[in-house]
Amino acid sequence: MAARTVVITGASRGIGAAIAGELARRGDHVVLAARTREALEQVASSSGSRTHVVTADVTRRADVERLRDDAIRAFGGVDVWINNAGRGIVRAVLDLTDEDVDEMIAVNVKSALYGMQAIAPHFMERGRGHIINISSFLGRVPVASPRSAYSAAKAALNSLTANVRGDLRRTHPAINVTLVMPGLVTTEFARYARGSTGPIPPGAIGSPMQSQTAEEVAAIVVDVIDKPVAEVYTNPASQAVAARYFADVDGFESGAERRAD
Ligand SMILES: NC(=O)c1ccc[n+]([C@@H]2O[C@H](COP(=O)([O-])OP(=O)(O)OC[C@H]3O[C@@H](n4cnc5c(N)ncnc54)[C@H](OP(=O)(O)O)[C@@H]3O)[C@@H](O)[C@H]2O)c1
Repeated sequence: MAARTVVITGASRGIGAAIAGELARRGDHVVLAARTREALEQVASSSGSRTHVVTADVTRRADVERLRDDAIRAFGGVDVWINNAGRGIVRAVLDLTDEDVDEMIAVNVKSALYGMQAIAPHFMERGRGHIINISSFLGRVPVASPRSAYSAAKAALNSLTANVRGDLRRTHPAINVTLVMPGLVTTEFARYARGSTGPIPPGAIGSPMQSQTAEEVAAIVVDVIDKPVAEVYTNPASQAVAARYFADVDGFESGAERRAD
């Protein structure tokens, strides 16, 4: 398979770094973006020479446009753009401040919107490309009240992703758009969540599922690049849990409360 150029936001650690490592091992060109240059450079040096590092804050539209321009300059074009940067929160709905909500929207929704709007014209010009938005199972099934505004932001991202997929499919059928919804992944996500004072206590998440490693999630994302699909839950248990939730929300929530007792 020919080498592809893949831009990954939030590539300085966690899932983004694992995707970068896996793609670089397979011979792809990888553009790694995040705010922390030193961490990006560490990921790049362990991923090999076909990497390029760009410091960018994805909550700023100008930074995301600069990331696109820099990636195209470095490798001559972009084949895949992965909106992976994101941040959680630990705050129940009734305690949310304006700043909490604004930050969740900025880092989890606007960041990906800026990415899609920045790269879509490039993909349209080439007649092909692949946008991958890393959302969360919580954006589909909101079963963790401490993550409230995060789940809401990911739900918004899910909607934008579905809508842009439909729009692009009509005019540019070779541009793919994929929504990826991981469950619990063993990264430092919880530690960096806004308002975090440590891990969320057991039971606060209504539907306990086995956690996955960043590498397991990365392998699924790489598969999706090879064989694009509309959306994917990375955790094999998620589909059945979501089906149970939508079949009977009241019953599901009552069961979750019992599990949390
Ligand atoms: N871990 C989970 O359980 C889990 C579950 C479902 C979905 N997800 C989603 O998976 C994605 C990756 O999460 P993760 O677990 O790998 O989290 P993580 O370990 O906290 O990594 C987050 C990454 O995003 C970057 N980032 C944060 N804010 C940014 C900003 N304003 N501009 C640019 N980069 C920014 C961070 O780098 P800098 O700090 O250097 O900028 C870091 O590279 C997120 O979208 C998350 O919502 C995670």
